[in-house]
Amino acid sequence: MKDDYIEFIQHVKRKLGIDLYLYKETQMKRRITTLRNKRGYASFVSYFEALGKDREMLSEFTDRLTINVSEFYRNPKRWDVLKDSIIPKLLKKNNRISIWSAACSTGEEPYSLALMIKEHFSTATIQLMATDIDDTVLSKAKQGIYTEQALKELPETLKKKYFEKTGSLYKIDDSIRKNITFKKHNLLADSYPKNMDLIVCRNVLIYFTDQAKEEIYHNFSDALKSDGILFVGSTEQIFNPNKYDFNLAETFFYQKM
Ligand SMILES: C[S@@+](CC[C@H](N)C(=O)[O-])C[C@H]1O[C@@H](n2cnc3c(N)ncnc32)[C@H](O)[C@@H]1O
Repeated sequence: MKDDYIEFIQHVKRKLGIDLYLYKETQMKRRITTLRNKRGYASFVSYFEALGKDREMLSEFTDRLTINVSEFYRNPKRWDVLKDSIIPKLLKKNNRISIWSAACSTGEEPYSLALMIKEHFSTATIQLMATDIDDTVLSKAKQGIYTEQALKELPETLKKKYFEKTGSLYKIDDSIRKNITFKKHNLLADSYPKNMDLIVCRNVLIYFTDQAKEEIYHNFSDALKSDGILFVGSTEQIFNPNKYDFNLAETFFYQKM
């Protein structure tokens, strides 16, 4: 008999276009099993059938697949390196910068980039695209409304300057919001943009298999201009960067040769 989980993966790929084969299996299977058990289904296939009939359950399932935690200036020391060393070099040539925040979740990452450029490089022309596979997080990102927790690394001055506080929530200023184009994009299936100066892709590659990661690194390398930079998460070093035409520029920053 065909493995129940394998059959489930095939159904999910057909229905949602998400290829769970390319995500690390133990981790993913554990996440889905917890959810399935909570809903009272004994097999993956019966759970899948139920997902087809219940929109709320389907949305709970896709939310669970796509681990969405994020915050402004996540790992602040890395963002200091970005501000003090990486962006000044990228702007040297013509004071323009094209940035792609890939797997941007609810928008904290692209908004951090837009804030940084506005605060510290105000004369630069910026083009900023932010993408994610998950429609729910993208619509939250477009709203730009955050809890105190998401803003905990942001200096008080920036909070005051660029957010409107209503009750316990903070809404980002339109002057920052209008700089960003949000779009749906699946890193494992869609075609990649070209001519980027900076790609920020953090805290998603850890969920993928080595084979999927390799393909993504090649795609990122092709998407960057020469001397462009890939900024990865703090547990996501690339062990053989040369293979993808990258040099290590700073820890967690790779420069396209
Ligand atoms: C933990 S969040 C990372 C958010 C942000 N980059 C950060 O570091 O704070 C991971 C994001 O990856 C997205 N994701 C998962 N699989 C993806 C895929 N195949 N293509 C694009 N985004 C994906 C999820 O929807 C989620 O929003």
